[in-house]
Order: sequence, then C-alpha cells, then structure tokens
Amino acid sequence: MLAQRVRSDQITLRTVEELCQILTRLKELEVFDVVITGGEPLLLKGIFEVLQHAKSLGLYICLNTNGTIVTPRIAQRLRDIGVDCVKVSIDSANAAVHDRFRGQVGAFRRSLSPFHTLLDIGGGAGTCSIALCLAYPHLHATIFDLPGTLPMTQQMTQQANLQDRINLIAGDVTKDGLPGIYDAVLVSHVVHWLDEEQISLLFNKVSTALEDHGMVLVRDFFLETSKTAPRQTAVFSVSLLVQGGSRCYSFDEGATWLTQAGFRRGAEKIPRELILAKKQVRDEDGRETSECGHMG
Ligand SMILES: C[S@@+](CC[C@H](N)C(=O)[O-])C[C@H]1O[C@@H](n2cnc3c(N)ncnc32)[C@H](O)[C@@H]1O
Repeated sequence: MLAQRVRSDQITLRTVEELCQILTRLKELEVFDVVITGGEPLLLKGIFEVLQHAKSLGLYICLNTNGTIVTPRIAQRLRDIGVDCVKVSIDSANAAVHDRFRGQVGAFRRSLSPFHTLLDIGGGAGTCSIALCLAYPHLHATIFDLPGTLPMTQQMTQQANLQDRINLIAGDVTKDGLPGIYDAVLVSHVVHWLDEEQISLLFNKVSTALEDHGMVLVRDFFLETSKTAPRQTAVFSVSLLVQGGSRCYSFDEGATWLTQAGFRRGAEKIPRELILAKKQVRDEDGRETSECGHMG
C-alpha cells in the first residue's frame, strides 16, 4: 500500500496524512485487518504516526518488513503502538538462495539480525557486549548502565567500530524500567553490588524484558553453599559488606532468585560463575508451553 504511491525519499507529511485518511476510509468500509507492506515500510518518514492512527481506529495491523533496520528501539516502538503482527520476509532457509533472490549479498544475514538481541545490564566498558558482537555477527547489544559510566562505554564501542550494533541506554536498574524486549539478557558482575530486595526486583524486570523462552545469563563471583569458599570470593564479600552493605551470594541463592522470577535453570558452568536460565511460559492451565522462539 505504501510503496505503490511514492518512493520513500519522496514521501512528505501530506502523504502520511493521506495514508491516515485511507485507513480511516477502510475502517468506515468495515475492513478490520490491514497489511502494511512495501518496499520497506519502515523507511517511510511518519510510519509510526500511520501505525498509531491505524491502531487508534481499532484495526488489526500486520507490518511486513525486510527486518534490516529493526533495532531494539524500533521493535519496542512497534510493540508500544500495539502493532499486532510483524513479518520478516525470508525467501529461503539457505542464505545464498535468499541473497540471490533479493539480489544482494548479505541480505539474509541482515534480515535475521533483529532476532539476536542482547541486553547487557551494567555492561560497564562494554567488554562482554563487544566480545559477543565480534563473535556473533548477527548480534545487536544494548548496554544499560549508570549515566556516569556510558561516556567510557561509548568510547570503547566506537574504538571497536561497533557503534551501529551496540546501543547505550542510561539508567539505574534499581529504579528504572528496562527498555525493549530481548532474546537474551546478560547480568555480568552486577548482582554483588545489589542487596537481596534489589536483586529480586531486578530479575522480575529481566523477565519482563525477555521474549518468551528468552535466556538470562548471570555471571558473578559466586560463593559455595558454605559461603566461606572460594576464599578470594569470601574475602571480597567481606570487603563489600564493610564498604556498602552488599555482598557476594552463593550459587544456590542465585539459582533461587531465578526460579522465583519464573526462570527454568539450564546447564551449569564449572567453575560456578555463570548461571543460565530460560524464561518459562505457561498456558492458561499453568502448563509450561514448549519453545518455538528463535534463540540461536
Ligand atoms: C563490575 S562492573 C561489570 C561490568 C561488565 N558487566 C563486566 O562484566 O565486565 C559493574 C557495572 O555495573 C554498573 N552498575 C552498578 N549499579 C548499577 C545500577 N544500579 N544500575 C545500572 N548499572 C549499575 C556499574 O556502573 C558498572 O559498570
């Protein structure tokens, strides 16, 4: 509908108004289901206004996109507007076939890229996100950290030439919500700065920020059940207690927070410094639903 009228670089505000008028007319004609396609509809200046208008009319909206510019921020915006369905066109499971069909090398990889999103809470200088983005070319990371930390993070991501794939968001995880929806959330060396109430709150927020069946990775200086070993961690825990009242937690405590927040634990890593868990999803009868997501 959008692409038929004009090329994206020719689109004006008037065109957006016209599109809204068309949607209003469709509603008057008792159309209830509209597919917005292209070209690439997300290139249309004012697309969000058009979508917002469609939703205000109560239309069921499906957006067809090639996926290449769906960043976590755009995905969140589409979700906030209430777009009912977003489809990404994939012409073959074989990357070469898709690229040939689209006439562009790399099209398959770029179309899949929005489906590999990581939120790195307390990501600091970006060490983990940078390493992961270098290892996984489809990955887009968002680092959420205190405002004072982010200028350094920005410098590091620019040096790694990853500023297009690593998004920075300033916030305090003990006070602010976590923006966006992600395939995976990393909490690396953060929980020992927080007290138990803050941690419990944190994992509830992590659950909300995850796709169904999304994965949380919690990396920290975990103590053994006795909480007196490993010795270095026990000493570090005492110094945290003296400094500010937080401490190191045992691996079992970590696992308990996750279970309480609705996660199912996965494989353990030895040494015990990383807990992997998946967000559980239950149906109306309380049964755990099977996984059909796209976690790679
Ligand atoms: C020890 S660093 C870990 C950095 C990185 N995740 C890593 O593993 O290399 C802890 C990070 O947590 C951040 N942090 C601490 N409290 C926070 C809070 N309340 N909200 C957001 N970030 C916080 C700090 O600014 C710091 O960057």
